[in-house]
Amino acid sequence: MDPRTNPYSPGAGTPPPDLAGRDSLIEAAAIALDRIRDGLSARSLVMYGLRGVGKTVLLNQIRLDAEANGTIAVSMEAPEGRSLPAILLPSLRSSLLRLSRSEATKAGFKRIFGVLASFAKAFRMKYDDIEFSIDIEPEEGIADSGDLEHDLTELFRVIGETAKARGVVVSLFIDELQYVEEKQLAALITALHSANQHNLPITLFAAGLPQLLGLLGKAKSYAERLFDFQMIGALSPEYAREAIVEPARRLKVEYQSDALDQIINATDCYPYFLQAWGQHCWQVAEQSPISLNDAIEATEIAIAQLDSSFFRVRFDRLTPSEKRYMRVMAELGPGPHRSGDVAEILQRPVNSIAPTRSSLIRKGMAFSPAHGDIAFTVPLFDGFMKRMMQLEI
Ligand SMILES: Nc1ncnc2c1ncn2[C@@H]1O[C@H](COP(=O)(O)OP(=O)(O)OP(=O)(O)O)[C@@H](O)[C@H]1O
Ligand SMILES: [Mg+2]
Repeated sequence: MDPRTNPYSPGAGTPPPDLAGRDSLIEAAAIALDRIRDGLSARSLVMYGLRGVGKTVLLNQIRLDAEANGTIAVSMEAPEGRSLPAILLPSLRSSLLRLSRSEATKAGFKRIFGVLASFAKAFRMKYDDIEFSIDIEPEEGIADSGDLEHDLTELFRVIGETAKARGVVVSLFIDELQYVEEKQLAALITALHSANQHNLPITLFAAGLPQLLGLLGKAKSYAERLFDFQMIGALSPEYAREAIVEPARRLKVEYQSDALDQIINATDCYPYFLQAWGQHCWQVAEQSPISLNDAIEATEIAIAQLDSSFFRVRFDRLTPSEKRYMRVMAELGPGPHRSGDVAEILQRPVNSIAPTRSSLIRKGMAFSPAHGDIAFTVPLFDGFMKRMMQLEI
């Protein structure tokens, strides 16, 4: 069919034509923000899940809705290896700048920039990845002790007090939060906790891989009471059908039911794969309705393409011993698996392969859903590993 009108959008953070099955979460986020604006309590939302389940697009949707309702969104992604101040400062500055342009809010925000400047000055030496400058005199003696936990708390307090006086909510949106290092994560939690205790309208919406849950709990044991943790997973079969059928229906294209079954089966209802399959079905089919044969052909093409891109980029980041470890996990099935079972197949003592396991977790390739367990962070990665390499011990 006409490639110009192909509605599907496989990608990273690319908004889907239909954001299926996430309405209740989007609504819960809107309720939380309204409550905070009205001075009521609401927990910050942390969304966690495997690669490609739609965390980023959900976070973005929540942010767009929040901004439409007057929330000041401070949006950022935590890249591997960057410090929290380095990613926080530029986005704080640009979001707050936007706000300070309005006459009604100008005065109070001037003070924030002074504090932002003193915070930046205090941490420039400590974190050499900070590329931030602001043409304003630092306000001495506040948020500049050099202790991140203390200074971030002060910074959030100043921002929160100003926002409260203006009747607005400031919300941080942080994607890939699992990449923020433990101490800095602890500082972020403390600062939010303190703002929360002082009833200040500053909150966090975050997304990351499943290991985020453990990382937050480890950084501060009270994290589980401060955050509302929501697992983002594969869609239900009904919503997966909707994600495939609806974009086509609007263009007067239909699917035969056995074609849909084939797609549901092959994708396990994972959002990224649904978009990829939809895109290939559209490419392969000559006309509506899209048939089972079209879906089978699309499956072959989609798998070949995923193997050379989506899966492949991740595979290429692995060392030989990590590859071997992941291959053994694949041998055991989709997972989660006991680390002990992996060690047994490798004929090695558990502690001798522990460093490999740790580095896989650090790279975001695997996570530990429970003590002693290990699982893939990428859906269907077991099948890929089996296609890519033979099991050699
Ligand atoms: N609810 C949904 N319905 C249909 N398609 C979706 C849905 N959520 C996400 N998608 C599609 O899935 C793909 C992956 O989405 P996204 O990049 O948000 O995932 P992610 O969880 O952030 O992945 P990663 O962990 O790799 O960053 C995108 O192509 C997006 O359009
Ligand atoms: Mg993402």
